[in-house]
Amino acid sequence: VQDCFELNNGVQIPCVGFGTYKAAQGNTADVIRTAIDAGYRYFDTASFYGTEPFLCEAIKDSGIPREDFFITSKVWKTEMGYEQTKKAFQATLERLGTDYLDLYLIHWPLPEPDYEDWKALDIETWRALEEFYKEGRVRAIGLSNFLPHHIENILQNCEVCPAVDQIEFHPGYSQEAVLSYCQERGIQVQGWSPLGRMRVSKEPLMLEMAEKYKVTTAQICLRYALQRKVIPLPKSSSMERMKQNQELFGFEISAEDMYRLETLPQTGWSGEHPDRERVYFDK
Ligand code: A2P
Repeated sequence: VQDCFELNNGVQIPCVGFGTYKAAQGNTADVIRTAIDAGYRYFDTASFYGTEPFLCEAIKDSGIPREDFFITSKVWKTEMGYEQTKKAFQATLERLGTDYLDLYLIHWPLPEPDYEDWKALDIETWRALEEFYKEGRVRAIGLSNFLPHHIENILQNCEVCPAVDQIEFHPGYSQEAVLSYCQERGIQVQGWSPLGRMRVSKEPLMLEMAEKYKVTTAQICLRYALQRKVIPLPKSSSMERMKQNQELFGFEISAEDMYRLETLPQTGWSGEHPDRERVYFDK
């Protein structure tokens, strides 16, 4: 496992990012400033999170050049469609105080659980993303929470292939079908909630692994992601845990233990509905 992964268009992406969803409401800019001090340069935000202005503020305050950061944002469900997405992207750039993004994603494949015309809407939205990419206003474009049949629709109708799919991913929810579909097609998978919101950490197997490798259960979760070639996007409000979540290179989980981790019962927030297309979680 290296410090960076390479996307299918050659762009280097740090292999651990910092998630800003619900980043300590009230003092979000402080949390992000702390994360910058803890060494994070890769930040994951979204129009929906409301954290873009705080990320802008924290980056400006740091005095660190914009080019040293890797910034991802996402177009929200209510902003989909060609014209709307163009407006949403412009608003995101303004809130972030930047003239380009490193990565821009379609946040969800469906604007509502039972929306029937999602195929056309996804393609229209993707067409806008392709345009930003060709204009050099974003270094890579991708998807989030897309399942294989949603991605298939994009692949059959795109000029620029998606570089990324960001999905819920942690031990006990590794979405094997999505992971193998993406990896066979050169689409980099990123994991949101890579710690399973610490619920999976109570599993005896996780405690056993933490003890064996002399790390925390959180580090087992994050190392598990890296060894599956998934970019984890952990969140934390504490400097100590922010640092801990980047200390992932001093140990390696054995192949046998990786297989054991794959046997954990699979439960995720995105998996509680049989067809998993519902809005199950307000991310
Ligand atoms: P805290 O902000 O107190 O650190 P996820 O990213 O899977 O949704 O999980 C986020 C949760 O995990 C947050 O509540 C965060 O709490 C907690 N967390 C983050 N890093 C660690 C860690 N290294 N050890 C324990 N809890 C952690």
